[in-house]
Amino acid sequence: MFAGLEALSAAAAGEFAELAGEAVVRRGRFAAALAGGSTPRRLYQLLGEAPYRDRVAWDRVEWFWGDERAVPPDHPDSNYGMASAALLGKLDLPPRRIHRIRAEEGDGEAAARAYQEEIARVFGVEPEGPPPAFDLVILGMGPDGHTASLFPGTAALGERRRWVVSHRVPTLGAERITLTLPVLNRAREIRFLVAGAEKAAPLRAVLEGPRDPERLPAQAIRPEAGRLIWLVDEAAARGLGSRCAQEDPR
Ligand code: 6PG
Repeated sequence: MFAGLEALSAAAAGEFAELAGEAVVRRGRFAAALAGGSTPRRLYQLLGEAPYRDRVAWDRVEWFWGDERAVPPDHPDSNYGMASAALLGKLDLPPRRIHRIRAEEGDGEAAARAYQEEIARVFGVEPEGPPPAFDLVILGMGPDGHTASLFPGTAALGERRRWVVSHRVPTLGAERITLTLPVLNRAREIRFLVAGAEKAAPLRAVLEGPRDPERLPAQAIRPEAGRLIWLVDEAAARGLGSRCAQEDPR
């Protein structure tokens, strides 16, 4: 675990750079799905600064998002907007490699279908076939144990065919578009970033409580063949037993 969000974000930035380097060597590109919310903002800011900025072949990164709110890209709640302000806008990136979820266009199902087709096109697979493997998926966790926009008790949790769905989240009273478990659990590398005292109780429930992914969706993140590492700070890890990993997450 890490002393605080800064140390956690620096470690996550080092992971991002290392995984990007490995993916580009092996596959010529690095397909990453970013998380929204507030926790990953510092990670994204750090990636745009030395020493990380010079460690990544930015023109080889395919940028995706794990979920999006039904707002325009310049809205303060936009996950794309947050990452764009924190990082993407500071880099000279080829626009064709930035794959924003167009969640603001009113027809969520159409936007979800279009995103699935864009994912399939970039990965060179059939949009109705098995999902491709992202090189890295960055996830956060809400106080209710949700991740991406997979919220407790929602049908999106049970989706096993589509890679992207649009749904109304009752607890938010809002539409969300989200990657689903089939594609999330297909990822080669998954990193949860969890920080702050308000996450201590849900983190303990997710990691050490009884298995109940319907109530704690973060428990449903179990990569088929990939690696899942939780990057947590001391405040969030307060309630955990002694098994919590120390500084080096690898
Ligand atoms: C979103 C995220 C969501 C987020 C958690 C944690 O769109 O909000 O994808 O899953 O990661 O809600 O958010 P914080 O990092 O702000 O605590």
